[in-house]
Amino acid sequence: MLSTNKLNKIKSNFPVLVGDNVVSKNMCNLLIKEISNSKSFDDMIMGGRSRINKGSKNFNLYIKNSINSAKLLKLFNSKSFYKKIENLFTKNFKDGSWVNLHKPKSFNPKKFTIKKKLNSSELKKMLGNNYTNPKVNLDIDFSVSKGGYRLRPHRDDITRLYNFLIYLSDIPKKNGGSLTIYRKKAKKNFRKSFRRFPKITELEIVKSFTPKKGTVVFFQSTPNSYHGVKRFIERNCPKRFFIYGSYALNKPVIWNYKGISYYPHIISTKKRMLTSFHDANYLTTAPKH
Ligand SMILES: [Fe+2]
Repeated sequence: MLSTNKLNKIKSNFPVLVGDNVVSKNMCNLLIKEISNSKSFDDMIMGGRSRINKGSKNFNLYIKNSINSAKLLKLFNSKSFYKKIENLFTKNFKDGSWVNLHKPKSFNPKKFTIKKKLNSSELKKMLGNNYTNPKVNLDIDFSVSKGGYRLRPHRDDITRLYNFLIYLSDIPKKNGGSLTIYRKKAKKNFRKSFRRFPKITELEIVKSFTPKKGTVVFFQSTPNSYHGVKRFIERNCPKRFFIYGSYALNKPVIWNYKGISYYPHIISTKKRMLTSFHDANYLTTAPKH
């Protein structure tokens, strides 16, 4: 169902694997049909992206009625496939790359990141301050975006190890909606602070991917894995159908780059937000508890 042998590394400052036709065009069309037939979506975010999220009742109903989406979920929601992805990254990015210090030993197929609004102290309490013996789980959503969808440059949740995108429709370049990878501007090749939402002026574009039917992107969710989506203009083109997912831990990921460890510091806020809206800074010192 997924030709992972077609994934190749690209030149970037964090580990990215990309491949065209990793999912067949026929399978993409079947998945688009299933998402189009969904009667309800869980939420709409970022100016026009409708999601069906793992963990919701709606998701379970969607999977029940969608043979191909169910097949895809079954493949990704397994320890063996997680291991396959982990091995692909280890093989492609050998010494001198980013590693997560505490490798998960168990895979929990039932778990998912909660889509509940929390303030920073509730989030800290949920994630805890012990980083050892983490468990890994799959998060996944089936998404369709209309015009107006965009994502400002950011790094993903501090619990995430690997993120992936499966593009199901072809979007012409002029319509935007491209996944863009950024690098933090600086002369030195190592830095000590990685904010979740850096200013656009602190970044420079490394590469953009125009969504193409069957193209799959995997990337390691390292402290510097800045990415975003350019505004999508829906004019004489299909909607932007895609599947987004990640392998996430049940606690924060401690990253290490060339012997230096990076710990996440969640920025205090009283505001209740989804975990994906919380700001955190990766620093070389452990947070005080
Ligand atoms: Fe993201």
